[in-house]
Amino acid sequence: MNDGPASPPPSPARELASDEILRDGGAVRVRAVRPDDADRIQSHFRRLSKRSIYLRYFNQRRELPVVEIEQMTHVDHVGRVTLLAVERREAVEDVIGIGLYERVDGRPQRAEVAFSVLDAHHGRGIGTVLLEHLARIARRHGIEEFQATVLGENRKMLEVFAFSGFEVDRSLEDGVFRVRFPTHETLESFEAAFERKVEATTASVGRGLPAPSDPSRGSSSGSEE
Ligand SMILES: CC(C)(COP(=O)(O)OP(=O)(O)OC[C@H]1O[C@@H](n2cnc3c(N)ncnc32)[C@H](O)[C@@H]1OP(=O)(O)O)[C@@H](O)C(=O)NCCC(=O)NCCS
Repeated sequence: MNDGPASPPPSPARELASDEILRDGGAVRVRAVRPDDADRIQSHFRRLSKRSIYLRYFNQRRELPVVEIEQMTHVDHVGRVTLLAVERREAVEDVIGIGLYERVDGRPQRAEVAFSVLDAHHGRGIGTVLLEHLARIARRHGIEEFQATVLGENRKMLEVFAFSGFEVDRSLEDGVFRVRFPTHETLESFEAAFERKVEATTASVGRGLPAPSDPSRGSSSGSEE
């Protein structure tokens, strides 16, 4: 039995950080947002295509309003969570994907999810990875259901949900899908995540990258706090 002083609880930034291999074998770090990410998020937004901005926000805008950035960066990591998928080049972090959820007012067991991935990185599995992480965090905090509002023409987003293995229910009204699904794991979601990892690991080996379990790869908890 260890009678020594209890170690401090892990900070959300450290606890939520994870290195992921993508469908093409490339690597990305998924980490919790920090208050100092505002400029990185604005830079991410400025590099989204007009089409992606429309699909994400249902309108056109040139900048992300400061108030919205503050909502994304000032989170409690429980009822409001923002995850960033970042690539690191020469000590500079580039936000290539954002996934977030926020509890729905008056419905503490339900949260709204939304995503954006830079167009050049679409199809690599970043949206899928972010959804997996968000669902895991939500489950831990008693959020039992995710909902999303998705334009009817947004095939990619609908496919991310459909391929996730979660029990997705959707209804179309005025060209907009209301998507809902329980966050609990299903056999299908477990298998989808497993297959994604196998496919990614195979692709990374093909690219000559070390697989995630390769001990020579070192610790994955190198996030700055
Ligand atoms: C929607 C969006 C977030 C998806 O992100 P993404 O990183 O491209 O998503 P993924 O790579 O995980 O999945 C999308 C693609 O993988 C495919 N896919 C997903 N899971 C798969 C699986 N298990 N097996 C095979 N293919 C799969 C999808 O069919 C889709 O294929 P496509 O690229 O050929 O069309 C991204 O396209 C985006 O930012 N769009 C603009 C903003 C937006 O629409 N936001 C949503 C508002 S809620």
